[in-house]
Amino acid sequence: MNSAPPPDTSVIPVHVAIVMDGNGRWAEERKKPRLLGHKAGVKSVRTVVETAREIGVKHLTLYAFSTENWARPSLEVKGLMSLLDSYLKSERKTMLKNDIRLKCIGQRKRLPPDVRKTMDWVIDATDQCSAMTLNLALSYGSRSEIVRAARQLAGQCVDGRLNVDELDDQKLSNHLYTAGQPDPDMFIRTGGEKRLSNFLLWQVSYAELYFTDIKWPDFGRDQFLEAVADFADRQRRFGKTGSQLSKE
Ligand code: IPE
Ligand code: IPE
Ligand code: MG
Repeated sequence: MNSAPPPDTSVIPVHVAIVMDGNGRWAEERKKPRLLGHKAGVKSVRTVVETAREIGVKHLTLYAFSTENWARPSLEVKGLMSLLDSYLKSERKTMLKNDIRLKCIGQRKRLPPDVRKTMDWVIDATDQCSAMTLNLALSYGSRSEIVRAARQLAGQCVDGRLNVDELDDQKLSNHLYTAGQPDPDMFIRTGGEKRLSNFLLWQVSYAELYFTDIKWPDFGRDQFLEAVADFADRQRRFGKTGSQLSKE
């Protein structure tokens, strides 16, 4: 049972992006192998996906594995890939039931073939779901995403399909993995670090940033609702003055 008073979630962010950090330290504190922390983290993924869907978040982007994470010990990488595979297999039904569309963003080709297959299976099955889009960032790095977009646009300029002067923010956004989705309104990072770690650098330019020391396996429904309540309390000015906004 949830005993905390319901936080004020009157303003719901349309798109929430989360750096799910702290699994390893959570396990190490308990003198357990790091993989156990990742396993515990899967529970938080389930809870946060469910809560986000329930309160009406339309896009949820979870940073599950970065391009830099390939440099971790191979056993940890293998363990993470296998956890990801079993998470996707077990969640397919729930995603369908909750009308959640799965999308994966990142360097898909670097993922093991069996994970890619499972991913495609769930992506195809949930293709028509529309209540919420769940973006899993896998082998994701923001700089390489931007370089990829720049290459595609440069290619179009070279072939004469695009005029250099026509290049603008929107056109670049259209070539990112998140094309067609609104930018995150809110960026959450658990685990105590206050950095972006190459996550959605372009897309978070006007996101509200929220950092918490709580490690990802301990980040549940109440913690997520508290973060959303904090968001509801902020005034987003987008460069204008506070008094301009109060007149709008
Ligand atoms: C985040 O937890 C999950 C991944 C990066 C895959 P970490 O594994 O980075 O946990 P800490 O930061 O070492 O505690
Ligand atoms: C960011 O966490 C990546 C994910 C949560 C998947 P890291 O633990 O890899 O980031 P750094 O190394 O602390 O910057
Ligand atoms: Mg970490």
